[in-house]
Amino acid sequence: STQIKLAVIPGDGIGPEVVAEAVKVLGAATAVDDVTFDLTWFSLGAARFLETGDVLTDDDLASIAAHDAILLGAVGGVPGDPRLANASIERGLLLKLRFSLDHYVNLRPSVLFPGVPSPLAAPGNVDFVVVREGTEGPYVGNGGAIRQGTAHEVANEVSVNTAFGVERVVRHAFSVAQARPGRHLTLVHKTNVLVFAGSLWQRIVTAVASEFPEVSVDYLHVDAATIFLVTNPSRFDVIVTDNLFGDILTDLAAAISGGIGLAASGNINPDGRFPSMFEPVHGSAPDIAGKQLADPTAAILSVALLLSHLGLTDAAARVTAAVTADIAARRGDGAATAPRSTTDVGNAIVTRLTDKGLQ
Ligand code: NAD
Ligand code: IPM
Ligand code: MN
Repeated sequence: STQIKLAVIPGDGIGPEVVAEAVKVLGAATAVDDVTFDLTWFSLGAARFLETGDVLTDDDLASIAAHDAILLGAVGGVPGDPRLANASIERGLLLKLRFSLDHYVNLRPSVLFPGVPSPLAAPGNVDFVVVREGTEGPYVGNGGAIRQGTAHEVANEVSVNTAFGVERVVRHAFSVAQARPGRHLTLVHKTNVLVFAGSLWQRIVTAVASEFPEVSVDYLHVDAATIFLVTNPSRFDVIVTDNLFGDILTDLAAAISGGIGLAASGNINPDGRFPSMFEPVHGSAPDIAGKQLADPTAAILSVALLLSHLGLTDAAARVTAAVTADIAARRGDGAATAPRSTTDVGNAIVTRLTDKGLQ
């Protein structure tokens, strides 16, 4: 049978709670397949840093890189905790993994599942995917400050956009669009202000478009894109955008499609040189951590993305089907029923995967 080496990073806050359910679902979904997952657990995140001072050692990174794929819960402490200043965990752990493992495609699908209440009065058919650039833009850490702490401080944060980096993610986004029924791609940027990066993105989209004549293309400024995500989300099919715009748009996209507890993502290295990493879009949610209040669905749908990336498409489809059925059944929750715990939701989805009667 095929052996798949999976690195698991539960992380901080609700990370371990949602990853526990995701791992159960992974086992249940692949029980009938000729595949075994060998899990290596990595204790990384704010908690480990506060205990040992380690963020991500070279040994940890090398060991993670030797796996076939990575499942991550969430990392990071309480926003504003002075002991975690300098974004040590976000930059030194999460971004370090994304950059070192060349996760240049950050794939973030948004689907409004049947039965899920949207905060929008008339959401229409919400089914789009954001292809967020993952290794460049304002995230690269190309910045600095002078005269820090004085009234004359200058703080620069430079967005880096390379022709190589933009072209590879744009080409990938076109291939994602080509494979979808809508065959539509929207470039989101801010070309009216960010003229150098904007021009580069625009020219590359125009050039690559000629290789994909079946894909229709349009452009929106990022501010206008936030309007349409709220007023007319069904106009979107595939969005390709810069690292920071993609971060912001995908929290909004999660909110309109049922909430951050449902939003899954994949940090993909399409070349396959490095393991890809799958994680919910949400963070460690310190406000609800340790209380079994977190929705594990985003982590579980990230397992579906992981399975699909590994070519285990039947298992991926089983997870999506079980989640879809569970979500539809949630309509009855609320006033009459106590809200389910994180574990209850995971167990219900596992039951649907193992008990055909419930499907
Ligand atoms: P967050 O996503 O952790 O929380 C925002 C809000 O959403 C909170 O009210 C939280 O309770 C809620 N929420 C999040 N996930 C939920 C779930 N599964 N079920 C129900 N409610 C959920 O964002 P934040 O508060 O800005 O960040 C907290 C920490 O997480 C920070 O340290 C941040 O840097 C880090 N973070 C990490 C990742 C990651 O590891 N990929 C992503 C985002 C934020
Ligand atoms: C996300 C997070 C990260 C990001 C942070 C924690 C570095 O918000 O995965 O969306 O900005 O990419
Ligand atoms: Mn984010």
